[in-house]
Order: sequence, then structure tokens, then C-alpha cells
Amino acid sequence: MKARLPSSPFISLAATPDVRQAILTRRTFRTFERRPVPADLRTRVLDAASWAPSAEDADCVRFVVIDDPVLKKRLFALTRESKDISNHWEALFRSSGLRGYVQDWTHTPLCIAVCIDPAARPRHIHDNWSHRLAGAAASQNLALAARYHGLAMVMYTHFSQEKLKQLLDVPFEWEVDGVMGIGFPDLGRINPRVLEASLVRLALGELVSSERYGDPAPKELTEERQPPERRAPVAVPDLMTAMGELVETTRFTDAPVPSEHVFEILRAGQWAPSAGNFQPIRYVVLRERERLAALDALARESAAVSAHWFPRYRQGAIDHPQWADVPAAVALIADPTKGGPHIHGEATHVIGGGLAAQNMRLMAHALGLGTSVITHWIEEKVKVLIECPRDWDLVGVMPVGTPAESPARQRRQVAEVVFQDLFGRRFTP
Ligand SMILES: Cc1cc2nc3c(=O)[nH]c(=O)nc-3n(C[C@H](O)[C@H](O)[C@H](O)COP(=O)(O)O)c2cc1C
Repeated sequence: MKARLPSSPFISLAATPDVRQAILTRRTFRTFERRPVPADLRTRVLDAASWAPSAEDADCVRFVVIDDPVLKKRLFALTRESKDISNHWEALFRSSGLRGYVQDWTHTPLCIAVCIDPAARPRHIHDNWSHRLAGAAASQNLALAARYHGLAMVMYTHFSQEKLKQLLDVPFEWEVDGVMGIGFPDLGRINPRVLEASLVRLALGELVSSERYGDPAPKELTEERQPPERRAPVAVPDLMTAMGELVETTRFTDAPVPSEHVFEILRAGQWAPSAGNFQPIRYVVLRERERLAALDALARESAAVSAHWFPRYRQGAIDHPQWADVPAAVALIADPTKGGPHIHGEATHVIGGGLAAQNMRLMAHALGLGTSVITHWIEEKVKVLIECPRDWDLVGVMPVGTPAESPARQRRQVAEVVFQDLFGRRFTP
């Protein structure tokens, strides 16, 4: 007998959602029906993953589809072993606890390892997270595309990294963000307590600051319009259409961005997943001209420092918008104490930022706006400007406005970025 899903505006399995619906109703599911994911849907979700943006279109993400039953069994054994290692320090993962389960890959229809290459990042100061952000954008595209097609996904990162890389023959220099488990959710076997826990989000009023971290944001940015002003939400495009069209925007017109659109973009970030649902990301909205002008000066200073090592900045390369003129900007900052407490969970707070950023990009695009994630900064100077705590990480700053350009993007073919069972082995769709 199928269990009923709890009634919530944040859970739905209805197929072909628009961007807003997809972002708000994507939930993690961990138990799947035994039926396989049909070949055409496998290709579509992989396609969506390959469309995800990366800083300067750096080619840093590869996917390994794991179908071999022997490999899946070994992955399952590794997952158990990894959890047992974490149990040495973290009672949270004991089998009696809410997070005590171990993903059974032998009964997970579609298993995709997301691999990232630190060497392929764009090369400027503070580019150390760029490959993580690219991997996160690809993972979020996978999750949203799965949601679109009536499937669901769990992002599973709890692995002994070296053993996972060895198992999949991933090059020594690469990293694996995790294995994504995808299938048709088995509603009869979901744990309602786990599903309910995943519906908890901090209020936007707690997540969003104005100009400086800790300074409350005006209600118009953090609360949905209430009656009598309340209008039907602006119609937004189909998710897969928006995903296919998405580009990074750095040139904007001077048209102002309505507060309700900023609210929708922030809410899209709020509903991104995070390891353990610990919600490590905070958003600082910048709209004061003076602060944006200071950010602009920092952008120039950052490029001047990068120019010391990278000739293209000496030749005038510009990967920043004109911050002084952008209608609004949102800085994403990540609290490392709110990452996953499991082994190799150290980057999960920043990955959470990459997942939120991808939701925000898609929502901005759906509203006719554009954005991008700018990571090229003297990090500590931006942190001072926005009063970010010293030991937090700056994920990036996202300009928001009406695009003044529609740059073409290179599209990679699935066959170029997807491997079968082992890294480097030709994919057989
Ligand atoms: C970076 C990251 C790592 C995660 N790692 C795991 C994991 O190792 N095991 C697991 O069961 N779930 C993992 N999750 C899923 C989260 O527990 C889930 O996203 C969170 O509880 C929020 O639920 P939601 O995705 O339904 O919004 C991970 C999620 C993220 C974003």
C-alpha cells in the first residue's frame, strides 16, 4: 500500500513543473521503486546536468553512471564502512538515529557520481571553490531535472573519499562530490519523520541581511506580499526550458529589480538542499549605491592582484559586472560549522552555496532577470565590506538585473562528460 505524502506546498511529484514549482517542491527521497529509470529519462537528466554553468565555462565536471551490479554492491559496502568510520566521532549517524540509514545502491536504479577537477578552475585569486560550485550546479540540475520527470534524487556525500575514487578509478588529482541516487520514489517505504525534517527551513528574515551581515533586511525582501496587495505570482517558464536557456549574465540595463523578484530569488536559495539540512548559507543583499561602488573598487583591485600571475588580467580581461551600476547584488556567505559532520564533509557548506546559487540563477532567469556567481575577489576585503564573520567562507557575489546581453554558451555533449561505471570508460546510454 502506498503511503500518502504529507500535505505541504513544498512536496509534490506532479510532472513538468515550472521553475518556481520545481525549486520549491524538490525533496530528497532515498527509497526508490525497483523499476529502472527509462533510457530516455536517463539521457534527459544527464543532459540537464551537462548544461550547468561553471565559472568562465571551465570544463571541470564529469559524471560516472554506475550500472554494474558488482560495483553497486561494493559501493553499498563502502557506504556502510564510511558511516561506521563517522560513527567513531558522531553519534548522529548511529543506526538508531534519524541519520543512521545507509543508502542501498544495489536497489537505487540510477547512480551517478559527480566528479570535479580542481585543475580546471578558471585561475584567478580566490578560485579555490570554483570546481565545487560547478559540481554543485550540475548536481542541482540533476535533482531538478529528476523532479521534473517524476523521479527524485538523494545527494549522498558520506564517503571515504579516497576509497570512492579508487572504486571508480577517478584520477588522483580529481575529487568526487558524491553519488547521486535517482529513481521513482517508493512512497510506501519513505520515513515520514525524515521527510518532515527536510521541510524545515529557517525563515528568510533569519537568512537575509541588508548591506551588512546581521543588519535586518526589509520585510519586502523576506516576506511574501500579504493581502490586500497580494497578487497571483508572476507566471514563470517550464523548468527544462529555463535550464536549457540559462547563461551567466554580467551586463545589465539600469532597469530596477522589483523587491518581490528579489524575494523570489532569495526564496529559491532558501529551498536549496544542504547536508543534514543544516542550512549553512546566509544572504547579504546590497542595494546602497555607496556600498556597490566600494564593491566595484574591490573588483578592480582583485583583478589587479590576479594580473600579477595571470596575463589575461594585464590585457584587460573583465569577468566582473559594473558593480556600481547593478540594480542589486546578493553576497552568499557560508558558515563552515553548519556543514555535514561526516567524514569528508568539509566542503559541504560551500557546496550548499553552489546549490542555492543554481536555484537563484534559475529563478532569476524565470523572472526575466539575469545573474552570475562572481568569485574573483580579495576574499577578506569583501568580507570586511559586508561584515561577514572572519572564519566563514565567501561563496560569491551575485549581481541581479535585467540582462543587456545574451551571450552564447558552449554546450557539451553527454558523451563528452559522462562515463560508464569507471572514470574514462565510454558511456553506453
Ligand atoms: C551537500 C549535501 C550533502 C548531502 N549528503 C547527504 C548524505 O551523505 N546522505 C544523505 O542521506 N543525504 C545527504 N544530503 C541530503 C540532505 O540531507 C537533504 O538535502 C536535506 O535534509 C534537505 O532535504 P531536501 O533535500 O528535501 O530539501 C546531502 C545534501 C547536500 C546538499
